[in-house]
Amino acid sequence: MMATHNVRGDEGNVREGEVRDEGRTTSGPPPLTDATREKAREIMARYPRGRERSALLPMLHLVQSEQGYITPEGIAFCAEMLGITKAQVAAVSTFYTMFKRRPTGDWLVSVCTNTMCGVLGGDKIYKTLSEYLGVGHDETTPDGKITLEHTECLAACDYAPVMTVNYEFFDRMDPDSALEVVQRLQNGERPTPTRGARLCTFREISRQLAGWADDREGAVGEGRAGEPTLAGNRLAERYGISVAGFDPSTPIRKAADAAEKGGSK
Ligand code: FES
Repeated sequence: MMATHNVRGDEGNVREGEVRDEGRTTSGPPPLTDATREKAREIMARYPRGRERSALLPMLHLVQSEQGYITPEGIAFCAEMLGITKAQVAAVSTFYTMFKRRPTGDWLVSVCTNTMCGVLGGDKIYKTLSEYLGVGHDETTPDGKITLEHTECLAACDYAPVMTVNYEFFDRMDPDSALEVVQRLQNGERPTPTRGARLCTFREISRQLAGWADDREGAVGEGRAGEPTLAGNRLAERYGISVAGFDPSTPIRKAADAAEKGGSK
């Protein structure tokens, strides 16, 4: 059975802002409020005056933290706050896969199917979860709990095959261990990631990505780097290897300086 959450103003009797899955229609996401506007201003204040449009990425995460995905209302909100067009906001939000165009579950399960993970079992893991949940890529279970997606390299190839839940890592998975993680999520548990902070919901992680720290006690200090990640550092340390002639206090040249010098390096 394939079931998805869809927001479609162009199909059937479902109006924009409503969610329909398997014949069930529920109300749409909560509206953005004055409190959202206040948070958006807080984000904008992090950027130099006149450069507020740089706040777009965290502001889109803010929209996701409130509404669960990038809604048409969220696009209009960002455009109005930043003084840019809705087309510009839409262009950015559709470029990055972390911005979701449909309602996303509490648990976004991302399975790496890129080369390294794929050959070590990532494809099998994805297939197993897809068949078990009855959803395909970027689709959400009918209860709105779990969204599945396959991704192309989660930047953790040294732990392949990997998957993430709301961007926290579960390393060296196989179909059985991946299934166990998903089943525990379905049972209301929060399995502990292999590395990184403890799990939080998609809206909670979106709030962190918008720039607010995880306020759960002790969560920020969790998650040491894994041994395979540190192996290169340890070898370099042991053999006294460093980048030749690198001075850490070297200033970063501005583009204007480079142009003045004819682009010379
Ligand atoms: S190939 Fe899967 S993390 Fe890079």
